[in-house]
Amino acid sequence: MRSPKFLAILAAAAALCGACDEEKVMSERGFRLPDGNAQAGRETFLYMQCNQCHTIRNEELPPIAGYEPYVELGGPVTKVKTYGELVTAIINPSHKLADGYAKELVSENGVSNMYVYNGYMTVQELTDLVMFLQPHYNVIAPQFQYRVYP
Ligand code: HEC
Repeated sequence: MRSPKFLAILAAAAALCGACDEEKVMSERGFRLPDGNAQAGRETFLYMQCNQCHTIRNEELPPIAGYEPYVELGGPVTKVKTYGELVTAIINPSHKLADGYAKELVSENGVSNMYVYNGYMTVQELTDLVMFLQPHYNVIAPQFQYRVYP
């Protein structure tokens, strides 16, 4: 007869394994979208009116009457803005809000102010947008101030 303690451990191990299986199923391992086309991405950016809310560093974009863009895309970052991060920022914007903005400016109750485009943006448009945006981010070394002791 096995002790109840042993059975409890077995049950706990099974429960843990169940959890890790689920993690495996939801893993992003193996995820890779095809490369897009940056020129088409620029056009997509304009006809989807991303410039209602966004400017892009070093990119002239026509203004849209009645809108004041307030979130800049591109520019200096301290680590590479990856393809995966940009895809996530577009199709799951609330997952991680853009750095450098007050939360109440860019979100409400943790939900990004950005529109949800998932219902009508094609995968081609998504990959083109990311291909267009990615090179606008440039990685700079963080500037540390070391205190020099006399
Ligand atoms: C109604 C306003 C609005 C529109 C339109 C909009 N966005 Fe956004 N977007 C935001 C806000 C606010 C943020 C910052 C909060 C966040 O990270 O979701 C943001 C963040 C982003 C980020 C992450 C920026 C970073 O540096 O982390 C990307 C990339 C982005 N938007 C791309 C797009 C694209 C592409 C479109 C058009 C298909 C678009 N946005 C349309 C409001 C908007």
